[in-house]
Amino acid sequence: MDLCIVGGGYVGLTTAVCFAELGNRVRIIDVDEEKVEKIKKGIAPIYEEGLQEMMERNMQRITAQSHFDFDESIVFICVGTPSMPDGSMDLRYVKEAAESIGKNLREGGLIVMKSTVFPGTTENIIKPIIKKHVSNFSIAMNPEFLREGKAIHDFMHPDRIVIGVEDERGEKTLRKLYEPIEAPLLVTTPSEAEMIKYASNAFLATKISFANEIGNMCKMLGMDVYKVMEGVAMDHRISPHFLNAGIGFGGSCFPKDLRALYAGGKKMGYEMEMIRAVLDVNERQPLRAVEILEKHMEVKGKTIAVLGLAFKAETDDVRESRSIPIIEALRKKGAIVRAYDPMAMDNMKKIFPDIHYCGSVEEALKEADACIIATDWKEFENIDFSGMRNKLVIEGRRVLKNKDGITYEGVCW
Ligand code: UGA
Repeated sequence: MDLCIVGGGYVGLTTAVCFAELGNRVRIIDVDEEKVEKIKKGIAPIYEEGLQEMMERNMQRITAQSHFDFDESIVFICVGTPSMPDGSMDLRYVKEAAESIGKNLREGGLIVMKSTVFPGTTENIIKPIIKKHVSNFSIAMNPEFLREGKAIHDFMHPDRIVIGVEDERGEKTLRKLYEPIEAPLLVTTPSEAEMIKYASNAFLATKISFANEIGNMCKMLGMDVYKVMEGVAMDHRISPHFLNAGIGFGGSCFPKDLRALYAGGKKMGYEMEMIRAVLDVNERQPLRAVEILEKHMEVKGKTIAVLGLAFKAETDDVRESRSIPIIEALRKKGAIVRAYDPMAMDNMKKIFPDIHYCGSVEEALKEADACIIATDWKEFENIDFSGMRNKLVIEGRRVLKNKDGITYEGVCW
């Protein structure tokens, strides 16, 4: 099939390259010239496991451009949806994309929304924009469930494919497109598909805040939340995933999507109390690391090493990383922060240009009065803490294998 993908970010690019791998011809449109030039040369502008290799294999079926001029009849919208100050989503890029698509779409085309948007957006906002330009077209919503870093794997081996459609033409086309992928396929309305995406992320985030809440109590009672959750997860109705307690969830999706869901509810006069609580626990959780530190020492003037800046391991992404509120709190209290991350330091420098960035774990720990571990990087499993002035280690993610010779505190265990 011939596809046009609008937006070459991690969702758009993954979608484009995977569809090309499945034998389709794909045109990527992105307003960012630099990104387009890279894609044209077969260079992936972002790091995703397996993306570069898959892209190289399929370059004969991939084109990229920055101008809106296409003749494909299937168009995916994969542009970003940043947060507004009230938590709701900024639909500016989605609307702009819809306007440009509408001007170029041929009669009988299919527009597929992939960007995460509030339920109702595809039918009530995107569709009327397209309708101004084209009278005969189909519209669909096809949410993505891709984890950053594992996007290629998740695209090719999904737990499910959800297609929210309004008519048979949309359903038939999307069924055919996804035929080579082995996964259960659920057909819904576009709004239901939008809500499935939100509800899935909200549920996963709820599991994390739940584990953290139980963990906070376990710590007070002197027990290990990981053992407790192991027992909880043995109930097949619960499942062992996303119950790892720690300093909470970050990244470009969970915090933003939950805020948007909450803000959307509020606009409708409905207070989503559970979602609010999940977000509240998540705000408090990283600060617990600092509270524990303060039980051991007066932070003012002390040198604190923060190991791990990325929002999770295997990425350089620091968006909503839980290390940000930790560093903010430490600096506010007058600490000297020495930070290290194997991949994310350049990105963190844009947020905190004036903390000390170190080239290695050892360098960050040198003469430190305490250390907070904020990301579960594999290289943190076995750390030599001997260079610290005072060997107090507070672990925000469960990663350390060797705790010999240190004063150890888990954030909620
Ligand atoms: C998440 C979802 O997992 C994807 O299914 C979804 O498609 C994506 O958002 C999206 O909406 O696009 P991602 O943000 O890449 O993917 O990251 P996750 O691996 O889900 O981790 C999110 C955060 O939760 C990280 O900070 C991680 O450290 C934290 N986490 C995760 C925990 O604290 N405990 C856990 O048990 C699991």
